[in-house]
Amino acid sequence: MTSSLPPLAPSEVEGNSAEGSVPRHVAIIMDGNGRWAIRRSLPRVAGHRAGAEAVRRTMQAAVDSGVEVLTLYAFSSENWRRSEDEVSDLKGLMRFYLERELGTLQKEKVRLRLIGEPAAFGNELYERLQQAVEETRDNDRLTLVVALNYGSQGEIAGAAKALARAARDGALDPETIDIAAIEGLLHTCDLPPLDLLIRTSGEVRLSNFLLWQAAYAELHFVDTLWPDFDEAAFNSALGEFARRQRRFGGR
Ligand code: FPP
Repeated sequence: MTSSLPPLAPSEVEGNSAEGSVPRHVAIIMDGNGRWAIRRSLPRVAGHRAGAEAVRRTMQAAVDSGVEVLTLYAFSSENWRRSEDEVSDLKGLMRFYLERELGTLQKEKVRLRLIGEPAAFGNELYERLQQAVEETRDNDRLTLVVALNYGSQGEIAGAAKALARAARDGALDPETIDIAAIEGLLHTCDLPPLDLLIRTSGEVRLSNFLLWQAAYAELHFVDTLWPDFDEAAFNSALGEFARRQRRFGGR
C-alpha cells in the first residue's frame, strides 16, 4: 500500500523548529464577548461591540508583525442557535465594521477574504461583503479571512460530496483521492497552512473551527476574554509560537 504523507513543512525539511519565526497563518477563536459584557452588567451586544474593537487592534498587530494571514471565527454555523436579537446585532455590527474599516483595510493594504457560507446573511450584507472582498483583492500586506456561517465538519463533508460526485460521474478515480485532493476543496485551499490557532476566554476546545487545517498547528489557549485581547496578547502568542519545537510527526 502506498502511503500518502502530507508534504514536509519547510521547517521540517530544514530540520529546525519554529524558533524565532513568525507564523505565516494565525487563526483566532474570538471567545468571551458575552462574559465580558455580563461582568459589566451590560447587554451582550456591548461585548460584541468591544470585540469588534479587539478585531481592529489584532488586525493591526498582525500587519505590524509580518503575519501573512489572520483568520477570525466571527460566526459559526452553530451560532444561528442564538437569539434572533443577538444574530441581528452581530449582523449589524459586521455591516458597521465593514463601512468603518474599509478605509483602514485599504490604507494598511489588507485583503479581505471570506470562508463559510456568508450568503445566509441575506443579500444586502452578502453583497457588501463581496464588494469589500473585490475592492481589496490586490492588497498584499495581510489577508484577513473572516469565517462567517462557517463549520469545519460541513466544510469537510462538502469536499467529500464533491469528490463522490466526480467519482460517480466517472471524472475521478477514487483510488487517486489523497490528502491534497481534499485540501484542494476546502475553503482555505488558497491559503498557507495554519501555523498557530489561538482561543481566548479559557475554553479549551476547537468548536468546529478549522479541524482539518489545525492538524499540525500550534494551539494557544489564553484566559483573556476577547474584548480585552490586544497587541501585547497577540505578540505574546507569537512569542510562545517562536519558542515551540514543531516536528510534524517527525523527531
Ligand atoms: C464569541 O463570544 C464571539 C462571537 C460569537 C462573535 C464574534 C464577533 C465579534 C468579535 C464582533 C464582530 C466581528 C467582526 C469580524 C467585525 P461569546 O458571545 O460566545 O462569549 P461568551 O462565551 O462569553 O458568551
